[in-house]
Amino acid sequence: MGNHRSPLLVALVSVFFYSSVVLAAPVTYNVVSLGAKGDGKTDSTRAFLTAWTQACASVSPATIYVPAGRFYLRKVAFNGPCKNTAILIRIDATLVAPSDYNVLGNSGSWLAFSHVKGVTLSGGILDGQGTGLWACKASGKGCPTGATTLEFSNSNNIVVSGLTSLNSQMFHIVVNGCQNVKMQGVKVSADGNSPNTDGIHVQLSSGVTILNSNIRTGDDCISIGPGATNLWMENIACGPGHGISIGSLGKDANEAGVQNVTVKTATFTGTQNGVRIKSWGRASNGFARNILFQHAVMVNVQNPIVIDQNYCPDNKGCPGQVSGVKISDVTYQDIHGSSATEVAVKFDCSPGNPCSRIRLENVKLTYQNQVAAASCSHAVGTSSGLVQPTSCL
Ligand SMILES: *[C@@H]1O[C@H](CO)[C@@H](O)[C@H](O)[C@H]1NC(C)=O
Repeated sequence: MGNHRSPLLVALVSVFFYSSVVLAAPVTYNVVSLGAKGDGKTDSTRAFLTAWTQACASVSPATIYVPAGRFYLRKVAFNGPCKNTAILIRIDATLVAPSDYNVLGNSGSWLAFSHVKGVTLSGGILDGQGTGLWACKASGKGCPTGATTLEFSNSNNIVVSGLTSLNSQMFHIVVNGCQNVKMQGVKVSADGNSPNTDGIHVQLSSGVTILNSNIRTGDDCISIGPGATNLWMENIACGPGHGISIGSLGKDANEAGVQNVTVKTATFTGTQNGVRIKSWGRASNGFARNILFQHAVMVNVQNPIVIDQNYCPDNKGCPGQVSGVKISDVTYQDIHGSSATEVAVKFDCSPGNPCSRIRLENVKLTYQNQVAAASCSHAVGTSSGLVQPTSCL
């Protein structure tokens, strides 16, 4: 009898442990319980900040829940560092920026995460209400720069899933100084003529993956700035927009390089560019290397394949138009479709730093159902398989 454990005791002990597990289970902060109103006009900024402060301070996994509705928000700075490394923000709602562009116009970004680790953003529509600012810019008046809709800076282990960004004032999503960021099922939508409304911009970041995303906008669908490494993009639909662009690089004399970038399975429809690498025509220690563009379909794209090392707006500050940026090991594999201009493949590299080890493999691009043209300057490389237009490397 002495050694015998009573089944009742065992049951009581397991109930005790089970309940303590339940007590330590994720906490949920519903922004509506904290004073937010989904009526599209009440300023809910404070309730979102309260939810963030509590989730950030909590040691157990936390969920911030935004139920259906339209929530009007001014700038929200989701600042870390946090005690918490598992914060889920689940959004069943539309978040609405102020329509008066002067409210956010000079504040950098609207929804800004910085110095956080382990944040997941799931669902949600972000309405940047950028049309007023675009019109201001088009009229040539003095206008504020505009705000990025969603920014992650100096953060690690970020997931963005099923998010929609509409009509951002400036860039839609920016990833800056981050490690290990995964975005999937992202939708970006803005007018094809909207200025500087890049879909997703990545710089100074490593381990960024962008999957299954659809981007229609007025500037680059995805732009890749200095210091982006180990970047993977797969199943991307782009257009309207300016394509997927590495650059502009080499603006600064001293600049981090771009390396190990893969674009796999992408469709470009009516875009200005398909896959582009672009650098300023000026001195820099920057570089772009180990780049793979694989399985792309071009539908009526103005510059399907392009390297342009002569970027110099207003022709200022580019002595001799010689880019210092070294471009090497760039592979174009299985790229086909139609070009909207005669020159479908253009490698316009730096006279001081020719592009090297450029590889074309199974590329077939047509112009008005005829053979298109290729143009090379200061570009060296190889081609294999069927390559049309005939390689000029
Ligand atoms: C290149 O980046 C991918 C992720 O996109 C990563 O899995 C791979 O290890 C990287 N390769 C090198 C050599 O760093």
